Amino acid sequence: MQQAEIGLIGLGVMGSNLALNIAEKGNRIAVFNRTPARTDEFLGEAGDLAGQIIGCHTIEEFVAAIRPPRPIIIMIKAGEAVDQQIAALMPHLAKNDIMIDAGNANFRDTVARFERLAGTDFTFIGMGVSGGEEGARHGPSIMVGGTEESWKRVEPVLTSIAARFNDEPCVAWLGTDGAGHFVKTIHNGIEYADMQMIAEIYGILRDGLNLSAPEIGEIFGTWNKGRLNSYLIEITEKVLKATDPETGTPMVDVIVDAAGQKGTGKWSAIEAQNLGVAATGIEAAVAGRVLSSLRSERLAAEKLFGLPALAEAPKDRAAFIADLENALLAAKIAAYAQGFAVMSAASAEFGWSLPMPTIARIWRAGCIIRSQFLDEITSAFTRDPGVANLVITPAFSAMVKETDGALRRVVSHAALSGLPVPALSSALAYFDTYRRGRGTANLIQAQRDFFGAHGFDRLDGKDIHHGPWAGQF
Ligand code: 6PG
Repeated sequence: MQQAEIGLIGLGVMGSNLALNIAEKGNRIAVFNRTPARTDEFLGEAGDLAGQIIGCHTIEEFVAAIRPPRPIIIMIKAGEAVDQQIAALMPHLAKNDIMIDAGNANFRDTVARFERLAGTDFTFIGMGVSGGEEGARHGPSIMVGGTEESWKRVEPVLTSIAARFNDEPCVAWLGTDGAGHFVKTIHNGIEYADMQMIAEIYGILRDGLNLSAPEIGEIFGTWNKGRLNSYLIEITEKVLKATDPETGTPMVDVIVDAAGQKGTGKWSAIEAQNLGVAATGIEAAVAGRVLSSLRSERLAAEKLFGLPALAEAPKDRAAFIADLENALLAAKIAAYAQGFAVMSAASAEFGWSLPMPTIARIWRAGCIIRSQFLDEITSAFTRDPGVANLVITPAFSAMVKETDGALRRVVSHAALSGLPVPALSSALAYFDTYRRGRGTANLIQAQRDFFGAHGFDRLDGKDIHHGPWAGQF
């Protein structure tokens, strides 16, 4: 029997869809699942594609079905299960076979796996895959970390299954070991910020302007035709317009306002902190989810404090809605600038040479944060790949200048109305801090020196690093 080009372990939702995508693009694929019944069921569901798929019931059968050196995608729950799967697989592999972890792994685990496999004959790839179920089936965005040699082996298959933007595949080799999983983590951090900011704007429209979910959906639908055009805005319109079949009311109005999270947003914020990069939008989004989960505390606190009276309604509602659109764009610029700054710091720290224009390029389609906006980021980084911050590129600085007034008006209105906008206000604070040449940390330095003799530098460059504190009080 003709050998498969690639193997895949784990026929859960993501694994099954990825396997069907691989088969559909004309690649022969061998599949294996811990429970053989699922493999049979999957083959039954594969329809015409079943001819391209070799269903295997044992690891031995599975490994023998793949052309060496064997690329084997492991698509199972991130964490310990991946280590167990690697251990179970290794005795059956041959020299240069490549294990590919395609789950949402913490990049530190990926780096540790590379280290453990360093002395063996086997190769490892840490691969970030974004786009959910639909993306896996019809074209995800794929972020690869590993050796260039192993990338070359898998490049044709991955290129055939990736999403395409202007006919360019949304897949790239981003660097060694944990590079792919790190970039995927930051993708998710930005995803958290994007979603939080959209939710804050929804809150202003719902609680500030008293609009219904379908009315708000209509506004997002209009915005999706403009500069905010993106998958997340598109699904926001759809979600807001959906009706609950049980009650006939808008679906969002029956959903509990407590957001779940699986960890990638938190990892992004932690790594940003580790790297000394201010990623305030991502931090605000993670904190927003944490606070959302304290529902009973929030309900009790509302009873205790009540809610502030709304600020006077904006006189020109259409102008205010235009402000909301621009505020969202301005805040989005801050969040993306921060995410890219984290990746740039990580690239230096971990020796990856992460290609910023390429990352923006492969996020333009397939992934959850896909958008027109990412095409503009691709152009900005292509023009100036070493730029310190996205906000100072010509295209984005022009956008910031045009939209930050709207962000300021929206955040002010929300603050006066008691409507929580932690991510939007973090973006405004970020711009205001970043753009101000004379900050206030001189006072912090003086305080640090006062209580701990931590020293400071003087503006005049004089070689005096401590204040006269003791002598003057
Ligand atoms: C993607 C998504 C996906 C993630 C979900 C849920 O890129 O396809 O980022 O990987 O699992 O978005 O994440 P949370 O449960 O943490 O919200």
